[in-house]
Amino acid sequence: MNTNKIKHIGVFTSGGDSPGMNAALYAITKCAEVNEIKVSGFRKGYEGLIDGDLIPLKSHDLQKLVHQGGTILKTARSKRFMELEGRKKAFKTLKTNKIDALIAIGGDGTFKGLLAFSEICDIPFIGIPGTIDNDLAGTDYTLGFDSAVNTAIENIDKIRDTAESHNRVFIVEVMGRDSGYIAIHSGLTVGADAILIPESGKDFIYLLEKVKNYESEDAFLVVVSEGDEIGAELVASKIKEINPYVDLRITKLGHVQRGGNPSALDRMLGIRMGVAAVEEILKGNTNKMVGFLNNQLKLTPFNKVVKQHQVNDELKGLLELFSR
Ligand code: F6P
Repeated sequence: MNTNKIKHIGVFTSGGDSPGMNAALYAITKCAEVNEIKVSGFRKGYEGLIDGDLIPLKSHDLQKLVHQGGTILKTARSKRFMELEGRKKAFKTLKTNKIDALIAIGGDGTFKGLLAFSEICDIPFIGIPGTIDNDLAGTDYTLGFDSAVNTAIENIDKIRDTAESHNRVFIVEVMGRDSGYIAIHSGLTVGADAILIPESGKDFIYLLEKVKNYESEDAFLVVVSEGDEIGAELVASKIKEINPYVDLRITKLGHVQRGGNPSALDRMLGIRMGVAAVEEILKGNTNKMVGFLNNQLKLTPFNKVVKQHQVNDELKGLLELFSR
């Protein structure tokens, strides 16, 4: 496509909301306006694309929302878009509204959807990684991860106060469907006694070893990723088996980690990735995600993004060191 002809960009947020999405929307509209491009936002992710539910977006309105968590466009995980019928309807919406390019903010499921869509729709697609899980290849950070970790830390610090006061064992479950990123970052930075993540095979062994020596005269904090195959309840029953007299509680932080004001890092990522997404469309790029790798913005084709971004060996080494 001749990029001089880009007059109207569509944008949507998809999958789980994450802090920083609104900052990205602000940056997209600002950069588009400077280039005399109109922006429309589709509501509720792919659902809005299918139903033609779109609203005009203006940077003047969005600049007041940079600090706000969630997504003003709303979001959804669309089953209908997985069917060809849904994608055909979405294609019709784009044609009817004369959309020349599309920016999607979401996770790997979102980009898989765009890849499938590109088989019937040939306008440029650019993705921005938005998920608290940080589980995407092609970027060191996804939008929302840093904020979610900060929320987890703030809450686990509070749990430590009560754990120390009662000499209790606390098992805190944090989010991360298939990834231990939130668990390892929050666990290390709150000084947890044990951290359980799906990427490690040894973490549970370390935990059991440590529990054997636990004297019940101190707090004992376990941070477990919801994606870990063992899970909070089983960890609790194993600890009780080894040491039946421990005073133990389980806390699941849950969706509190998805909300709240984005951190400075997530706001900046949103701003930088949002501007880059528009610029990449103008350069003629398509089917790529704008990531942030080694302190630089970098493009990765969608088919390489959909692989999981695994916790690296250096972090696993830290987990082992601090689990002893
Ligand atoms: O992918 C982000 C995430 O928050 C995961 O950490 C979690 O497993 C999942 O979404 C929860 O999804 P839902 O909001 O649909 O319950």
